[in-house]
Amino acid sequence: MMHFTNFENKEIADQLIQKALFYKADPRKDLSKGLGKRVGCIFLNPSLRTRASTQIAAQNLGMESIVLNMDKEGWALEMQDGAVMNKGTVEHIKDAAAVLGTYFDVLAIRAFPSLSNKQEDTEDFVFNQFVKYSGKPVISLESAIRHPLQSLADMITIQENQIAGKSPKIVLTWAPHIKAIPHAVANSFAEWAIGCGHDLTIAHPEGYELDVEFTKGAKIEYDQKTALEGADFVYVKNWSGFNEYGKILSTDDSWMLTEKHFEFANNAKVMHCLPVRRNVELSDEILDGPRSLIQQQAANRIYAAQAVLSKIIE
Ligand code: CP
Repeated sequence: MMHFTNFENKEIADQLIQKALFYKADPRKDLSKGLGKRVGCIFLNPSLRTRASTQIAAQNLGMESIVLNMDKEGWALEMQDGAVMNKGTVEHIKDAAAVLGTYFDVLAIRAFPSLSNKQEDTEDFVFNQFVKYSGKPVISLESAIRHPLQSLADMITIQENQIAGKSPKIVLTWAPHIKAIPHAVANSFAEWAIGCGHDLTIAHPEGYELDVEFTKGAKIEYDQKTALEGADFVYVKNWSGFNEYGKILSTDDSWMLTEKHFEFANNAKVMHCLPVRRNVELSDEILDGPRSLIQQQAANRIYAAQAVLSKIIE
């Protein structure tokens, strides 16, 4: 495996899930595997979980990790090939990524979308410029369109909580938010859940259709109550419009889950990638109650990253 940027196939996903569970049982089992290797974690956007869990994962493998907060501490990067750099940008991605490629064995990049340039975001332009010019294996720490380490952690969490012999009904439901939020988590969750062979329903108000590239094979439901009937796992996430790109089309707070929503899904577990806006996206009673898997998901971020790093340095 050269890069970890998207869902490849079920066989690789299953291997990564098993490897992550192996590390979860004994995190320091492979403490010497990454000795002498270095991962550069490049952040163009804020992070809590991704930053800390990737560093802990590297440490568990004996790897050194260095975090660069390029948005705050690096030079302003020019992304366009052939640009005449006579404005605000100081360093071209071609030079910066190549330098990072000489310093590190593996690069891990976070590059959110602009939500204003649909074509560039959909092509994952900024993220792919790092891939193109670094010459090293690249791990996505969340790009404009995908968050595969989060999705791997989510698949691990579902495997840990599903009832043996029962194919779980999984619902990805849109939730309200006060800001325009990227599609990456929702896209990736759909891509991984469908790819892993799960039964996925996606519920959202009309107009919030995700890019069909990620949702082929899922049922789309505009009525949240109908979608939730018989659910085993409910994944909650806000995203902005894709067709009406980057727009907030609804703030309907009846979509925020409370206990009342689970009348016909009594045993459903609730997932969210965090950070979460409490009592806007999800109610305190759900987040703090027995349905909530949010802390388990966050803990599994370590083992997802550890499994991916371990495979990449093999
Ligand atoms: N879930 C997630 O990626 O969290 P951070 O943005 O804090 O890294």
